[in-house]
Amino acid sequence: MIFILPLIFTFIATISAKGSYPPYGQLQVVGPHITDLNGNVVQLRGMSLYYSQWKAKFYNLQTVQALRSAWNANVVRIAMGTDRGGYLTNPEKEWTNVKNVIEASIETGIYVIVDWHIIGANPNKDKALAFFSNISQTYGCYPHIIYEIWNEPANTTWDVVKAYANELIPAIRRYDPNNIIVVGTTTWSQDNDIAANDPITGYSNIAYTLHYYAGTHKQSLRDKTIAAINKGLPIFVTEYGTAKVGGGVNGTVYPNESNTWWAFDDKYQLSYVNWHLSDVDEPAAALLPNTAASQVGDPAYWRSSGILVNQKYQKTDQGLGKPLVPFPLSTCV
Ligand SMILES: *[C@@H]1O[C@H](CO)[C@@H](O)[C@H](O)[C@H]1NC(C)=O
Ligand SMILES: *[C@@H]1O[C@H](CO)[C@@H](O)[C@H](O)[C@H]1NC(C)=O
Ligand SMILES: *[C@@H]1O[C@H](CO)[C@@H](O)[C@H](O)[C@H]1NC(C)=O
Ligand SMILES: *[C@@H]1O[C@H](CO)[C@@H](O)[C@H](O)[C@H]1NC(C)=O
Repeated sequence: MIFILPLIFTFIATISAKGSYPPYGQLQVVGPHITDLNGNVVQLRGMSLYYSQWKAKFYNLQTVQALRSAWNANVVRIAMGTDRGGYLTNPEKEWTNVKNVIEASIETGIYVIVDWHIIGANPNKDKALAFFSNISQTYGCYPHIIYEIWNEPANTTWDVVKAYANELIPAIRRYDPNNIIVVGTTTWSQDNDIAANDPITGYSNIAYTLHYYAGTHKQSLRDKTIAAINKGLPIFVTEYGTAKVGGGVNGTVYPNESNTWWAFDDKYQLSYVNWHLSDVDEPAAALLPNTAASQVGDPAYWRSSGILVNQKYQKTDQGLGKPLVPFPLSTCV
């Protein structure tokens, strides 16, 4: 952790004026991998925020800077709530939450996933189209941005998800020709094998979602995923948990199962994002109840999942050790 202090001073010196490049610059999808523009395979590892309508207290610069400096995270995920009091009913409020984290990520020099956080069969396509048109028009020039267009399709078929993606992708590509778009898969983003048999065609830089919870999902899901990778499918783990699905307040984390999954992810060079960086009182949460944004970087406020994930991220190279490169914001306005 000795590298942290110099890093903090570096970016405090540069951010407010300019913003910073994310560590690997512009990303692309090449075969089953995410690479930089020179074709070097890279992995993103980081944290997902919790539903924006309930945990907006972490949707800010303080949190994003702590994720980079104390969590060694090179990506943050915005889980923008849609139903249940989110964007569908309060679009201005949630757009502001999204804007705050995108701009914090540009300042801090890490990647940011903009996730249309909805579970189920109805992604509210018209609202999603308007939202992603706006985000791609406003921020598509920044290499920090990754789009996640339907968090967890469920009780639906790949035909439906694919048709949705084939409307969302061109709406985004109209303004943003480059940044990665991650497409959810059926059964709460666990059916990459189905997507691999019928992938989206005609667009570059498309990846497919895998979600897993280490206490629940085991080798059979890894086997399905290997089959998809072997067919060339690029997979992005935009959500994984160290606990069980719906872990319950008295649940626990599964360190060994988490390690088995991380070894798998690293073997196949998948990028992965932990659900969730919040203080909700449940085992998958990284923070203790009543933690404030100013305390996200303080180990005294990390609960067992957070400690486990943080230790893992400290042991991996996230490309954050080198000096920040100023990003010329003027090229994007
Ligand atoms: C995006 O939405 C915000 C919030 O409604 C609005 O202020 C902004 O003008 C929109 N931008 C574009 C390009 O549509
Ligand atoms: C979706 O399907 C699961 C079982 O696969 C079921 O438990 C759940 O109730 C269904 N949800 C809806 C909204 O139909
Ligand atoms: C959690 O454990 C406490 C203490 O054993 C118990 O009182 C409570 O009912 C449990 N909650 C759930 C949801 O199981
Ligand atoms: C977890 O892994 C550790 C270290 O590999 C091992 O010693 C331990 O027996 C494992 N525990 C379980 C419950 O599998």
